[in-house]
Amino acid sequence: MNLTLIGTGYVGLVTGTCFAEVGHRVICVDNDAAKVKTLQAGGIPIYEPGLEELVRKNTAAGRLSFTTSTAEGVGNSDIIFIAVPTPPQDDGSVDLSFIEKVAREIAGAMTIYKIVVDKSTVPVKTGDKVAETIKRYCKAKVEFDVVSNPEFLREGFAVEDLMKPDRIVIGVKSQRPVPALKEVYAPFKAPLIVTDINSAELIKHASNSFLALKISYINAISVLCEATGANVQEVAHGMGMDDRIGKRFLNASLGFGGSCFPKDLSAFIKIAEQVGYDFGLLKEVQKINSEQMNRFIKKIVETLWVLKDKKIGVLGLAFKQNTDDVRMSPAIELCHRLQKEGATLNVYDPKAMDKARAVLNNVTFVQDMNAVAEGCDAIVIATEWEEFKKLDLEKVRKSLTHPIMFDGRNLFDPAEMERLGFIYKSVGR
Ligand code: UGA
Repeated sequence: MNLTLIGTGYVGLVTGTCFAEVGHRVICVDNDAAKVKTLQAGGIPIYEPGLEELVRKNTAAGRLSFTTSTAEGVGNSDIIFIAVPTPPQDDGSVDLSFIEKVAREIAGAMTIYKIVVDKSTVPVKTGDKVAETIKRYCKAKVEFDVVSNPEFLREGFAVEDLMKPDRIVIGVKSQRPVPALKEVYAPFKAPLIVTDINSAELIKHASNSFLALKISYINAISVLCEATGANVQEVAHGMGMDDRIGKRFLNASLGFGGSCFPKDLSAFIKIAEQVGYDFGLLKEVQKINSEQMNRFIKKIVETLWVLKDKKIGVLGLAFKQNTDDVRMSPAIELCHRLQKEGATLNVYDPKAMDKARAVLNNVTFVQDMNAVAEGCDAIVIATEWEEFKKLDLEKVRKSLTHPIMFDGRNLFDPAEMERLGFIYKSVGR
């Protein structure tokens, strides 16, 4: 099929590429000319495992192309996917101006029936507004359908999630666009749910908020574990064996971050407020999340006492593993908070150092994870990179002036760390 994706961020670029990989002909549109040039030359602006090879392969096969022209994308495709950012605003709501602008541009370029699909995370009822806007700005007065098709990919696993989705959600007002969308998604062999637009939009916010809730729940349990000598990983394991609860997203940590959960929680609380419901449960999820970071910092301060003139090594800057994304990263917040207490920092991340340079000042970027502890009073693990589990612990212990490790991701076994001579403090154990 001929498909167009407008916006080549995480969602647009990975979705467009995976659509091309299964055989569709895809045009990716972005108004950032420099980004389009990079993509046309075979480079990609983000780190995402497996993506670069797929972009190259499908561009070379002529199934994937990049342009700055919305008119070109709309003119050459039957289905137009909107995948532009919906950034947070100060009051917790999201800025929908990119969606509105793209809707106007699509309307202006339409001369025959088109299916306009929203993939961006948007508040419920945005589909109605998109339809109104297209109707108003489409001079050709052609027929069209607006569809909500939320995306559930995780950064760091985006290609995998896209190629093997748990479910595809399609929100429609009429049945007319359904066969075409079924054809788009047929190669992915995933269950496809057809529902109304408002429900589809709500599924996205409800899912992300529920996952954030799950993390805050286990983080709250981690507090009880610390107070009673229990082990949060054992508790999570025992809970997760119940199919109704499930094992995933029960890793206690120094808190969740990223460009989705914090933003989507605030937006969902705001959406609820606008329809007259006080979503106190989600406010508590936010509160537990910020307290979790406070508690972790407190642990560091209580152990090291005064941080002024202390040097700390920080492993991990990305908001999670397998990504170079540092937006709303708990690791970056941790660095800022430690600096505020007067500590100087050595930092290392396998992929996110370049992006971190824009948000971290006066830190030493170290090129080797085993060298980050050199001359430090303590070392902190802030991101759950797999490779950190392979740290040369003997070397790290020897290069620390005091063998102290704070592990915000529970990567090591406390008994083993003690045996190796570390003062080891993790989360909920
Ligand atoms: C999240 C959702 O998982 C995706 O389904 C959704 O499509 C995406 O938001 C989005 O709306 O675009 P993402 O933010 O990429 O994906 O990353 P997650 O894997 O969900 O992790 C979010 C944060 O929670 C990270 O900081 C991670 O370290 C933390 N986390 C995750 C925990 O602290 N504990 C866990 O058990 C799991």
